[in-house]
Amino acid sequence: MCGIVGYIGMREAAPILLSGLQRLEYRGYDSAGIALQNGGLPFMKQKGSVGALLAAYEESPAKMVGATLGIGHTRWATHGDPSDRNAHPHLNADEDIALIHNGIVENYSLLRKELISEGYAFLSDTDSEVLVHLVDRIWKTDPSLSLEAVVRAALRHVEGAYGLCVISPRDPDKIVVARKGSPLVIGIGEGEYFIASDAAPIVEHTKKVVYLSDGEMAVVTREGYQVKTIENVETEKVITELDFSLEKIEKGGFEHFMLKEIFEQPEVMRDVMRGRVRTEEGRVVLGGIEDYLDRLKQAKRIVICACGTSWHAGLIGEYLIEDFARIPVEVDYASEFRYRNPIIGPDDVVIVISQSGETADTLAALRAAKEKGAMVMGICNVVGSTIPRETMCGIYTHAGPEVGVASTKAFTAQVIVLYMLALALSKGRTISHDEMRLSLKELSQVPEHAAKILELDAQIQTIAESFKDARNFLYLGRGYNFPVALEGALKLKEISYIHAEGYPAAEMKHGPIALIDEDMPVIFIATRDSSYNKILSNIEEVRSRKGRVIAIASEGDTEVARLAEHVIYIPQASAQIMPLLTVIPLQLLSYHIATRRGCNVDRPRNLAKSVTVE
Ligand code: AGP
Ligand code: GLU
Repeated sequence: MCGIVGYIGMREAAPILLSGLQRLEYRGYDSAGIALQNGGLPFMKQKGSVGALLAAYEESPAKMVGATLGIGHTRWATHGDPSDRNAHPHLNADEDIALIHNGIVENYSLLRKELISEGYAFLSDTDSEVLVHLVDRIWKTDPSLSLEAVVRAALRHVEGAYGLCVISPRDPDKIVVARKGSPLVIGIGEGEYFIASDAAPIVEHTKKVVYLSDGEMAVVTREGYQVKTIENVETEKVITELDFSLEKIEKGGFEHFMLKEIFEQPEVMRDVMRGRVRTEEGRVVLGGIEDYLDRLKQAKRIVICACGTSWHAGLIGEYLIEDFARIPVEVDYASEFRYRNPIIGPDDVVIVISQSGETADTLAALRAAKEKGAMVMGICNVVGSTIPRETMCGIYTHAGPEVGVASTKAFTAQVIVLYMLALALSKGRTISHDEMRLSLKELSQVPEHAAKILELDAQIQTIAESFKDARNFLYLGRGYNFPVALEGALKLKEISYIHAEGYPAAEMKHGPIALIDEDMPVIFIATRDSSYNKILSNIEEVRSRKGRVIAIASEGDTEVARLAEHVIYIPQASAQIMPLLTVIPLQLLSYHIATRRGCNVDRPRNLAKSVTVE
């Protein structure tokens, strides 16, 4: 998710690490820290930007001087607020092992309890801190082991994702790194080596890099690097030559953050489900609401409040929770909810959804619901933001920092969370064990389907080319795909400034049909579900009025092809899963139309990433 850097060579390490961290700032950060080795293990870490850390370093560089080996981290919190004590590196009690970590240790709570019972004191609320104590514990049992041997042994206890670096003056002059799920690159200089979570901090020093594969560990010294699997089997690595500009690297090779974030979705979807979806056991584990689950299940009614894209996710949540858990759900714009004197009481549960966790309207709705005595739960992306601090319980989406103003990966992450929540609320009540397993299996296949849909990018670019000058767009869908129509229209209007409307397809005949002529592109989300035949009739209605139809249809469908000018085929899945798939081509279409019109997609006019005014 966030940034890792490491340096070993002959130069002063601190300035190299700090400038490397600045190169990673685009990934988003909430705190940063470095640890160095110069006989001792000096470290500094604090909440806030890398710039602030740099200023602190420049004020008192003395303790850091003379270190030519070190590690640095910019954190994007997943467990525990952004704060000085939760910043990385984490150290053991003797302060002779320092560790930085990107990713999530899924079984941290179990490990933490175990370590506490053995007398380990925890200084942070992070999942990462267990790692350093695990290393310490193993080293205490056999101090003759090398640093890599103890890290390897520690990782045997760890479930989850990590990109990590460990240093220790007990086994000096090396950095031990390991990767599972979070990327790591080694940069090869002259008598010096660099480590980073992506090439951005490395490229100014060397173009020669080695990418670690999942499940690999490396020991990096001034003389070279040795890569083995975590199971201790030697692996052959090839050296790659970097050949792109710094700017591109910062966007992971993509032209814009929005495109990068669209393409990140298969990965993000896996992160959202990591450790939570237990298909074989037929259950969902949602740590943040575990203690409140019974109360949630007993809710007389659930009210979802949000704004913009998060509100669209909320609409899908309504369908999911009513479908699976049979609890009545209402969805309200946060701004409307708070001013309309809503009828809310202690039997109601209010769920607020927000990527940023700072949206003023959503925050106000949350506070109003709390005042009325409702139980309030949050679904947020930014850990430690205001909304999660004020809700009683919640689920983090773990989508990683979203930089593009148009929300993409945060939306799909929210929908996955709502799907998991709906299933958690159904367990033991409204669905059988087999249905549960089936639904979880379908969910776990979504990242694969999403990756397949992203391969349609070239086709979508062609469609974008022929519609880039349209002045209006209509988006139509039914059932689960109705909120997707709204989301598709919002994406297009906010980044391309083309007027677009989303409607339930059946509503077309009650008004919008008057707009249809040969200049009106109509996007139908026409996947195979219970209303498929009805939507075919709607397409016919548009066709007979000369509207230009673009359809998103299920693979293998021939009916739609007969009627539409363009068909984007996506893998077939059940109706409940569909929004996670159908939205992706719409995100891509908006992006490609907007870039063809010369719009600034990452920073569209008049908009802000986090709307903190009412
Ligand atoms: C999404 O593309 C928009 N930029 C916007 O509608 C956004 O979803 C809305 O402002 C809510 O933000 P939040 O999720 O951070 O609360
Ligand atoms: N899970 C860790 C934390 O919350 C690491 C997050 C990251 O990837 O920076 O501190």
